[in-house]
Amino acid sequence: MYNETIINDTKEMVRGKLLNEGTGHDWYHIERVWKTAVTLAEKEKANRFIVELAALLHDLIDDKLVSNKDEAVQEVMYWLEGVGVTSKDSERILEIIETISFKGGNSKKLHTLEAQIVQDADRLDAIGAIGIARCFAYAGSKGDPLFDPELSVREKMTEEEYRKGKSSAVHHFYEKLLKLKDLMNTGAAREMAEERHAFMEDYLTHFFNEWEGQ
Ligand code: ADP
Ligand code: NI
Repeated sequence: MYNETIINDTKEMVRGKLLNEGTGHDWYHIERVWKTAVTLAEKEKANRFIVELAALLHDLIDDKLVSNKDEAVQEVMYWLEGVGVTSKDSERILEIIETISFKGGNSKKLHTLEAQIVQDADRLDAIGAIGIARCFAYAGSKGDPLFDPELSVREKMTEEEYRKGKSSAVHHFYEKLLKLKDLMNTGAAREMAEERHAFMEDYLTHFFNEWEGQ
């Protein structure tokens, strides 16, 4: 059952944890994913309570943010129990946040509409104007260049290579961002992805023209 107090308490907890995060998983990423997830949940008639909580919590167990993933999962479990989420709902939420990460294309198939929506919302935030900004910010934080013409685009890669291999911000467009449109699970997200995708293609055209001094 929908419970606004639980949503608000969870929102404040996550905000407190991620306000000063510098890898593109800051609070405002979560807030955008949450808002987009609400839009998608309404269009797709999904369970909003599950979708909202999973969207708010989806990055708290990310391996880039936490050193011990099992501990982070435990913490989320205790949190949900503490605010009064039923164990059945908690299980659904945890399953969602454990399965949605992209991880170099090696992610598992999702079975519930709610999981599909949270993943779509997270992916929508990785494309378009915001996605471009996040990509360059992330590359900067890793010390990767804007673009490196000496590097080739990696077609297949392990999770390790995806995280640690040498790359550039523009390479990341080809290795991930431009693939996301066709990976959307729901019709509502596919529709939203079209415009964002077209904007990125346009952006790359400009980028390479300028790179060549035109
Ligand atoms: P996910 O957890 O879904 O795999 P990430 O946490 O890897 O997503 O990515 C967070 C943000 O940083 C996304 O916008 C993503 O596109 C961007 N990003 C991830 N890896 C790179 C990279 N190697 N270069 C540039 N941007 C990246
Ligand atoms: Ni995210």
